[in-house]
Amino acid sequence: RGDTETVVPETIASLDDLNEAVRACTRCPLHCHATQAVTGEGPRQARIMLVGEQPGDREDLEGRPFVGPAGQLLDEALAEAGLDRKTLYVTNAVKHFKFVARGKRRLHQNPSTGEIDICRWWLDQERALVRPDIIVSLGGSALRGLTGKSASISSMRGKVHALDDGARLVATVHPSFLLRLPDRERAKVERDQFVADLASAKHMA
Ligand code: URA
Repeated sequence: RGDTETVVPETIASLDDLNEAVRACTRCPLHCHATQAVTGEGPRQARIMLVGEQPGDREDLEGRPFVGPAGQLLDEALAEAGLDRKTLYVTNAVKHFKFVARGKRRLHQNPSTGEIDICRWWLDQERALVRPDIIVSLGGSALRGLTGKSASISSMRGKVHALDDGARLVATVHPSFLLRLPDRERAKVERDQFVADLASAKHMA
């Protein structure tokens, strides 16, 4: 068995089995430097799935999705949209943290399309097990992981798209994008739009 191969169980019947296999994943080199794979979390009966990009520094250390600054913004926006995170299935397009070390800091790096496409195998398994009605893509990497194509968020936003398994896709920005906006007025407009996108997912479910 080579370094980039993973033994995949013939049948993955439960999220526990899936998560165990994800934690052993060596399908791409990202596992070499990350602390651990970060699996999705939430009820298997969730009607809405949220898909982010990849774990950040905090997520990599804690082993849970969206527990750092982007997660805090996401939690606030979900509450404003009337969504309870405990009812949602929250996961990422890529399961390992990709970063460059700068002294003691670990700086996020965008996953490549190749890395997203390799990790898509796991996202597809999660979708097959949870079978959500609505999937919300947070940012461009999630969009790629869900559709297998590179499309701009602006071309997909505000419309409902049917995915290959029949789930309906709501495309929106990534919360980290909102955290990076320097202009306060623009940040408010973008944040309101983000909350509106999440609220539209709630109303579709
Ligand atoms: N950003 C993501 O896309 N996912 C996380 O889990 C955390 C930050």
